[in-house]
Amino acid sequence: MRSPRLEALRAALEKAEFRLAATQDLARVGDWELDRHTGRMHWSRELFRLFERPEALGVPDLNEALGYFSLDSTNRTRDLFWEAIDTGRRCALEQEVLLPSGEERRHFTVIVPVADETGRVFRLYGTVQDITERRRLESERLEHLERLEELSRHLVEIEERERRELASALHDRASPNLAALRILFSSLAEALPESARSELAPLLEDASALLADTTAGIREICTNLRPATLDYSGLLPALREYVAQFRARTGLDVRIDAESGSAPPALSRAAQTLCFRLVQEALTNCAKHARAGSVRIELGADTGTGGILLQIGDDGVGFDLSRLGEAGSTPGLGLITMRERVELAGGDFRLYTRPGDGTVIEVHLPAEPHPVETTR
Ligand SMILES: Nc1ncnc2c1ncn2[C@@H]1O[C@H](COP(=O)(O)OP(=O)(O)OP(=O)(O)O)[C@@H](O)[C@H]1O
Ligand SMILES: [Mg+2]
Repeated sequence: MRSPRLEALRAALEKAEFRLAATQDLARVGDWELDRHTGRMHWSRELFRLFERPEALGVPDLNEALGYFSLDSTNRTRDLFWEAIDTGRRCALEQEVLLPSGEERRHFTVIVPVADETGRVFRLYGTVQDITERRRLESERLEHLERLEELSRHLVEIEERERRELASALHDRASPNLAALRILFSSLAEALPESARSELAPLLEDASALLADTTAGIREICTNLRPATLDYSGLLPALREYVAQFRARTGLDVRIDAESGSAPPALSRAAQTLCFRLVQEALTNCAKHARAGSVRIELGADTGTGGILLQIGDDGVGFDLSRLGEAGSTPGLGLITMRERVELAGGDFRLYTRPGDGTVIEVHLPAEPHPVETTR
């Protein structure tokens, strides 16, 4: 006679098994059990599907099951079986699987040991998840990231080259002509009869002021584009030249502190250009946004890493970092570009700011940054 209680239990069990199979099917997760003493295995239905094994063939023995893996994965799986048995701890590994159809898949397997009351492991069970698609997407994402990084590097390189070419074209064409014009102009003025010279004096002064202003303007544009000092004398002289122009233009009190602490390591050309561009953007931001009284630039050795530490701090209004790029605001590119260039060089970019509390940009660069600028 059938007990109604037993029937109910059997129905509940069937329902639970059905649900488990449906879940495994959805998640593409199978499970297995291995009796340590008999060596017999149990496979869930999903596991048959994951290994493309017809259920009619029945559950494989352990050796046959290991035959689905690459040699390396077979060895690692064996090792981890023993590790789970010896330590009583669960283990996990990724396996390369070669299916009967010839298709290669990747599985993630968790091995769980089951011990009796004396601590002896008598059974292993585990789950198997097909992660081929996830791995494929991950490697695609990595490839895209690498390509993006390569592209950014290339853009930085092109930008620097174009700036340099523009600066030298402007300098080579305009500066000598302006200098010649100035000489010509004073010769002309001297050649004028005394009466005409005093009559034309205000005009002559205007014209020569205009010439001087144009010469200074072109020099400033060249310094902004790419100071020749950076190539000939290095970062510090280039920064001093730039800061002098910046102070004259904005009235901001900017101090360069390069001697404090230990001396910075010799900087590669790429690192010098990078530091110059960082200071340039940070100072431009100070002038545009900070309403600061003073700015301090520190350049020195990063004692922690043996690389370079560059800090640009102002005592201005600061800002709320969490509101950057908020809807309705037009996000700028300066900070993003700075961070990007530093990270491309293998460095670390940090920004400390709070409304009313000034802004500090701190950059750590490795002694030999990843090359960005390779062209001359
Ligand atoms: N030193 C600073 N003091 C106060 N606010 C700052 C400072 N630097 C940046 N900001 C704030 O951060 C925002 C983003 O700066 P970012 O340099 O990225 O863009 P931007 O200067 O507005 O435009 P872009 O640099 O593209 O010309 C600025 O709009 C400003 O609100
Ligand atoms: Mg900016």
